[in-house]
Amino acid sequence: MNTPFIFFFILFLSYTEATKCGSKGLNIKSPFTLSPHHNNDPNFNLYCQNTNTTMIHFPLYGNLVVKSISYNARKLNLIDPKSCVHEVFLNLNLSLTPFRYYYVVRSYTYLNCSVPINGNSIPCLSGYGHYVYTVKPSVKVPDSCRAIKTVEIPFGYSSYLSDNSFGLGLTWDLPKRDDEDGDDGVEEERTWVHLTTKKVPMIAGLVLLAAVGLVMKMKILHTKKILVSNEDMENQFSEDLLAQQHKIPQALE
Ligand SMILES: *[C@@H]1O[C@H](CO)[C@@H](O)[C@H](O)[C@H]1NC(C)=O
Ligand SMILES: *[C@@H]1O[C@H](CO)[C@@H](O)[C@H](O)[C@H]1NC(C)=O
Ligand SMILES: *[C@@H]1O[C@H](CO)[C@@H](O)[C@H](O)[C@H]1NC(C)=O
Repeated sequence: MNTPFIFFFILFLSYTEATKCGSKGLNIKSPFTLSPHHNNDPNFNLYCQNTNTTMIHFPLYGNLVVKSISYNARKLNLIDPKSCVHEVFLNLNLSLTPFRYYYVVRSYTYLNCSVPINGNSIPCLSGYGHYVYTVKPSVKVPDSCRAIKTVEIPFGYSSYLSDNSFGLGLTWDLPKRDDEDGDDGVEEERTWVHLTTKKVPMIAGLVLLAAVGLVMKMKILHTKKILVSNEDMENQFSEDLLAQQHKIPQALE
């Protein structure tokens, strides 16, 4: 009997449930969106892998695991599934995305050397007969080495900072409005974006629930009214009958 109610309730739930991967996933809020599969949208699109894992796809690079999102600090903590942060630093180009490294960046040159040089080579990028290092760009490239690339990254390689997630913190810029002229605009826009992407479906769901509730209440009242009027008619009928029965003897007297 409550079919419309159940239908809208499920609809409402699906609005609120669609914002995380599985039951244990991260809460996805504005400016991020969640879609079933990765697409080449370089913006704030996240997707799920193996139900629970929140992922981000960078065009021209690939996929990274989202470990946590701090909306207040505007910080996205990522993990490289291949456990090689310096491979990410070397290849991930953030210039066409809304992201940049959370930490202050400095220029480093990646060297690929055929024999070991001074310093620690990066284990996950080195192999038999080649040793990869990060050096300051001012360092003269030794004869046994080839400079791969100079990139702006938060950290050079250090065996002390070899934690897989260390350094893979990104921050993001909010899309700017044309007439924006200060922090107020940013705040206003953030609230507005938040409102449109998160609150509106929720409010719509609540309004629908309220409407369904109201319709059902009206239906019940209406049914009651019919019942009441039926009762009235019956009462009227019995009264008339009684009156007639009384009248008849009265008339006979
Ligand atoms: C997702 O998380 C739940 C609860 O921790 C776990 O039981 C389930 O195996 C996980 N699924 C995958 C695919 O990792
Ligand atoms: C370093 O050089 C070796 C041998 O030329 C090559 O196989 C390897 O892919 C290079 N590594 C990088 C990160 O460029
Ligand atoms: C990153 O991409 C931009 C635009 O495609 C390019 O201009 C820039 O040189 C790239 N940066 C690196 C370090 O490769």
